[in-house]
Formats: sequence, C-alpha cells, structure tokens
Amino acid sequence: MARHASPLQSLLVDDRFDGDVYPNEPMSRHTTYRIGGPARFFVRVNSVGALTGLIDVCVAEDVPWFMVGRGSNVLVADEGFAGVAVALGRDFRTTRFEEGRFLVGAGATLSSVVQEAFRRNLGGFEFAVGTPGTLGGALRMNAGSRDEWISSRVVSVATYRPGRGLARLRGDDIAWGYRTSSFADDEAILECELSAEAADPFAVRDKMEANLARRQQSQPLAEPTCGSVFKNPEGASVGRLIDELGLKGTVCGGACISELHGNFIVNRGGATATDVRALMEHVRHRVREAYGVDLACEVRLVGFNGSARG
Ligand code: EPU
Repeated sequence: MARHASPLQSLLVDDRFDGDVYPNEPMSRHTTYRIGGPARFFVRVNSVGALTGLIDVCVAEDVPWFMVGRGSNVLVADEGFAGVAVALGRDFRTTRFEEGRFLVGAGATLSSVVQEAFRRNLGGFEFAVGTPGTLGGALRMNAGSRDEWISSRVVSVATYRPGRGLARLRGDDIAWGYRTSSFADDEAILECELSAEAADPFAVRDKMEANLARRQQSQPLAEPTCGSVFKNPEGASVGRLIDELGLKGTVCGGACISELHGNFIVNRGGATATDVRALMEHVRHRVREAYGVDLACEVRLVGFNGSARG
C-alpha cells in the first residue's frame, strides 16, 4: 500500500491528519435524499489546517473535490463521485455570540443559529426556521424564503481558495442574488459573521411558528428530499406551474413528485438518482412545452458526467 500511495492517500493515512476518512463511502449515508453512490473518499475535516491541506493536495493531484455540507441540497449520481466529498467537523461547528454578532463555523447548522437567536431574544432569522443544511451551504446558495435571504444578515465571510489562500470578505462585497452568490466554485466557506438585533421574544416565536406551520402544511418535510428541485422563474412559482400541469403524484421507480408541493421530488424508498433525474427531465419538458419556460436546477448535481464540484 505504502509503495504506490499517492500524495492524497499519504495525507489521509497520516496519523497527524485532523479528520475522519471514509474510503468508498456511499453518499446515500450523507445526503438528506438518502440517494447517491460512493465517493472515492468522504472526509470530515476538523480544523482549518486539515481542510486547506486536503484541498491543496486535491488540486495538485487533479482530484475533484466538493463541499457536501449536510447533503441537504445535493443529488449524487448512482455511480458516485470519483473524488473527495468534504464535510466540516469539530472546529467548524462552533457558534459564538459577541457584540451583537454571531460568529458561526460553516459546518454549524442554520437551524442551530435560528434557535440560538431565539434563546437570546434576538430577531432576524425567523424566516430560516426549518431550513436544513449548514451555514456554508446556506451562504453559497443564499438560502431563504421567497423574499428573505440569509445574505441580508451577513457581515463577513472567511473563505479559502487554492492559490489565493485565506481571505475575509465583507458581506457587502459579495454579489448575492436569488439562490446565488459570487463565491467561486473552488472557494471553501469556513466561517461567517452574522448580525442580529434585539427583538421581542414573543414576536420572534410567533413568526417562527407561523413560518414553520406554513412549511409543514405545504412541504413534505418528513420525507427524504433535497428541498426545492428547481429555482422559481422570474415572477412565477415552479410549484404552481407543476401543480397546474397535474404532475403531482407522478412516479418513477422509487421517486415521486410530492402531492404536497410540486417543486419537491421525494424518495419514497429505494429511489435512485436516475429515477429523480427522469422525473426532473419530465417536468422540464412539460413546463417548456406548456409555458415556454426553461427551468434551472436549484439542487446541486454531483457526479453526473463530470459535474465535479456539483
Ligand atoms: N403552489 C401551488 N401548488 C404547489 C406548490 C405551490 O399552487 O404544488 C403555490 C402556493 O400556493 C403559493 C405559491 O405557489 O401561492 C408559492 O409557493 P410557496 O409559498 O410554497 O413558495 P415556493 O416559491 O414554492 C419558496 C422557496 C422555498 C421556501 C419557500 C417558503 C424556492 C425555489 N423555494 O418556495 O425554499 O421554503 O419559498 O418561503 O425559492 C428551498 O430553497 O429548498 C426551499 C424549500
């Protein structure tokens, strides 16, 4: 083994490597969809040094890598991913509150910040209640509801980019859009600073409860999904378009277009990525035919025809 070990393998078997390494790890264990073939390596890094060292070796060795977060917005191919899926462990899961700001590791969950804000009588995160995923994923996707996005709370973000190194970007210098941000594809988000303001805890609780109740009623939160599959086109709701076309309940293998919300495809048990892709193509085709609208994916696709970083 040692004789022909690549620099990547050498790093990952080194006792000093601060992380957990799972070779040929089924990604179905690490995605909310419970779908996805094996990643060549699934690696949970516990410190900034481990993360930057790992990314640098991947870049030098031309091994594809991507940040998987909590796997809540990703569809991994049945064939898996011929590279490294990186998750953030220990040092990236901390949340501190200082001088009106949260300092949150990119591996902490967005929902933990929502709860922590409520506990401290702070407002500004109620819109994100029930949103799965990590802060890193939420920032890259500019997660939110239709009209309130996480970007409005961002003071600064620390990132690492191979070749450039570490940097702290001001929230105002990042170009944010509907479910988009200007982070580069090969830029790993490490930590962020979020603003919060004092608020009446009863008003915060009421807003959180109302948002959660609305989502529980209209989204299949208890089933394995990747959240919204498509982005809403300008001025329209994909869910409504799919509903109007009578496509809810359409089944392909183990995957099904949710009866609750047209923009959710659920894994009813044993669904493959191929089943989900087939339903996505069906929806795309029908929406294009009926409305002349080309739907853009919201879910990140990983491992399909070299979609390396998803
Ligand atoms: N609608 C239907 N039929 C459906 C689904 C929706 O008629 O099957 C109608 C609803 O009645 C409503 C309108 O379409 O009048 C919009 O629906 P909804 O309020 O559910 O919002 P959405 O645009 O479908 C967006 C985000 C969600 C977020 C909700 C809550 C996108 C793609 N989705 O959904 O985000 O939770 O608003 O504010 O922007 C996600 O990004 O993964 C996600 C779940």
